[in-house]
Amino acid sequence: MKNTSEVAVEVKNIKKYYGEVKALDGVSLRVDKGKIYGLLGPNGAGKTTVVRTLATLIEPDSGEVTIGGLDVVEHSTQVRRMIGLAGQFAAVDDYLTGRETLMMVARLYHVPKKEAKKRADELLRRLSLQDAADRPAKTYSGGMRRRLDLGASLVGKPEILFLDEPTTGLDPRTRQELWGLIRELVAEGRTLLLTTQYLEEADALCDYISIIDRGKVVKSGTASQLKSSLGRDVVELQVKDEDHENALKVVRTLTKSKPTVDEVTKSISIRASKGAEMLIKLVNALDKAKIKPTDLAVHRPSLDDVFLAVTGKKPKRVATKKKKGKK
Ligand SMILES: Nc1ncnc2c1ncn2[C@@H]1O[C@H](COP(=O)(O)OP(=O)(O)OP(=O)(O)O)[C@@H](O)[C@H]1O
Ligand SMILES: [Mg+2]
Repeated sequence: MKNTSEVAVEVKNIKKYYGEVKALDGVSLRVDKGKIYGLLGPNGAGKTTVVRTLATLIEPDSGEVTIGGLDVVEHSTQVRRMIGLAGQFAAVDDYLTGRETLMMVARLYHVPKKEAKKRADELLRRLSLQDAADRPAKTYSGGMRRRLDLGASLVGKPEILFLDEPTTGLDPRTRQELWGLIRELVAEGRTLLLTTQYLEEADALCDYISIIDRGKVVKSGTASQLKSSLGRDVVELQVKDEDHENALKVVRTLTKSKPTVDEVTKSISIRASKGAEMLIKLVNALDKAKIKPTDLAVHRPSLDDVFLAVTGKKPKRVATKKKKGKK
């Protein structure tokens, strides 16, 4: 029994199909108590479907989910007492004030009025919403709405929290603030599962990460395990569209390992045990083929590379001021 008490959430081979769409195609994961678990994946990967299943909002077609040792389908009422959910789209009533929202949710949890007031006050302070506490939520900015929504998920004092893309659309400073809050929540002993499309976020917050794509877990580990799973340097090449096919041919003559091509930027990545040597060989070979690279770089593997290698897509970046797209 001692072993299971350390596990907060256990998911075994869950499947959820919507007609032809395999939203979840056999997902398994385990979240240990007091940890932050990150589900990382591109659009449509199945992240929200996992979260909604854990939060008892949808039932899997097959497989098993237990939270605190209880089956979520059989014991949904007890499970709901243990969990809090902040969904992907902040579910905030426009016409209620921040304080009213928190009070209402607290009352839904049957928290006595006096205690509800206390919790609302405390949360408004923690979420830096005191000044806006008595304004209707329709006057809130996007970041304020997300904080209020997170507050609503905390009113019931859940041990386990599910946050679906908690920082999407937030500016870098607000994102950092929310990261701070998330770390505090875990330091207080809570368990968290969050989804994100940002690698930096998974890297910064999560003890363990699963990359999911097309309803399947394609890779799991700690951030550093994921990075070292590639083990080798990455040489990245970008050429003009008209040179792309020829550049790929050149690359294939140089390396036995399969190059990966980013779907969007079309940049070609090659893994090599000695990146610098590969870079020189590549430059020479491209020169012979009369191809001029528009960009060429060698770097140590990053979580980005893992993501690209397993999903074929580049992850979203936290807002940066990159040069505008090439013509
Ligand atoms: N109720 C539904 N009916 C039909 N298809 C659905 C339904 N819910 C989800 N899907 C499909 O299941 C797949 C996974 O969706 P999900 O919302 O879990 O992805 P996600 O990883 O959260 O994506 P995003 O990053 O865009 O939020 C998608 O192809 C989606 O269209
Ligand atoms: Mg989603």
